[in-house]
Amino acid sequence: MEEIIQAMDLSYQYMNEDEESVLVLDHLNITVPKGQFLSVLGHNGSGKSTFAKHLNAILLPCGGKVYVAGLDTSCEEKTLEVRRNVGMVFQNPDNQIVASVVEEDVAFACENLGVPQAEMRKRVDEALKSVGMYEYRDRAPHMLSGGQKQRVAIAGIIAMRPECIVLDEPTAMLDPMGRQEVLKTIKKLNKDYGLTIVLITHYMEEAALSDRIIVLEKGQVLIDDKPRDVFKNVAVLKQTGLDVPQTTELLFELRRAGIHVPFDKLTVAECVGELEKLLGGTEKCC
Ligand SMILES: Nc1ncnc2c1ncn2[C@@H]1O[C@H](COP(=O)(O)OP(=O)(O)OP(=O)(O)O)[C@@H](O)[C@H]1O
Ligand SMILES: [Mg+2]
Repeated sequence: MEEIIQAMDLSYQYMNEDEESVLVLDHLNITVPKGQFLSVLGHNGSGKSTFAKHLNAILLPCGGKVYVAGLDTSCEEKTLEVRRNVGMVFQNPDNQIVASVVEEDVAFACENLGVPQAEMRKRVDEALKSVGMYEYRDRAPHMLSGGQKQRVAIAGIIAMRPECIVLDEPTAMLDPMGRQEVLKTIKKLNKDYGLTIVLITHYMEEAALSDRIIVLEKGQVLIDDKPRDVFKNVAVLKQTGLDVPQTTELLFELRRAGIHVPFDKLTVAECVGELEKLLGGTEKCC
């Protein structure tokens, strides 16, 4: 399988206020194949954002290497190409809006890359359609909801035709409806357009939608597995200060109460299926 991202023995350190160096990424090895939907979890300060910033050369390794589409991110002359391959979406949609009309906002990064006018029109329209915001193209971005603004920000990245999008807690500032819209968009871009997704999130229900989860702790990979297998380790996750999806939590509590149910039922439908099996034979109450 072809890799889009390779972090090899990646280390990074910051200087703290006392001028001491603090190791934030500790010899990380992470490879992301093309087309994968990867979620990165970890409690506050575990190094998630620092890792994300290495993926489009906002930060450069102190030790080891990061390759994006085979390009060494520490080669300065490759920075633009690295950023063309990996687009970043951040937490606050307001900080990412630069123009006063949606379609101009989406075109902004492409304009900077020198994409010709006719090609740009095509890309902007396609990008807006792919995030479900085409009918808002003439609107003022500041009049949109948080979820809509975040989708416009994603469209701006899509218009650059990247191979991979890295989203650092893109739903953290959104209401439940906005979160759902953005998640649906991310999932669709991955499934229908084959875009590689690296999603950093604190929401376990979001991570449950991905192909693979990495849990970081103190700048190291603590867990790297499929969501079903990750969430089976309820005790380990809780020790790390992480939650599990509500479905897993319910099954976990049932098991603790001595009721035999499997752990690895992540979706609400699967969980309901298990509960129905449990209640099998009894009359439904509503
Ligand atoms: N610019 C900086 N200067 C000094 N230390 C920093 C800087 N940025 C981050 N750190 C420290 O590096 C560590 C990792 O930070 P990082 O932002 O990568 O964590 P995170 O996992 O994204 O956390 P969160 O869940 O809170 O977003 C933290 O201890 C943080 O205080
Ligand atoms: Mg962070």
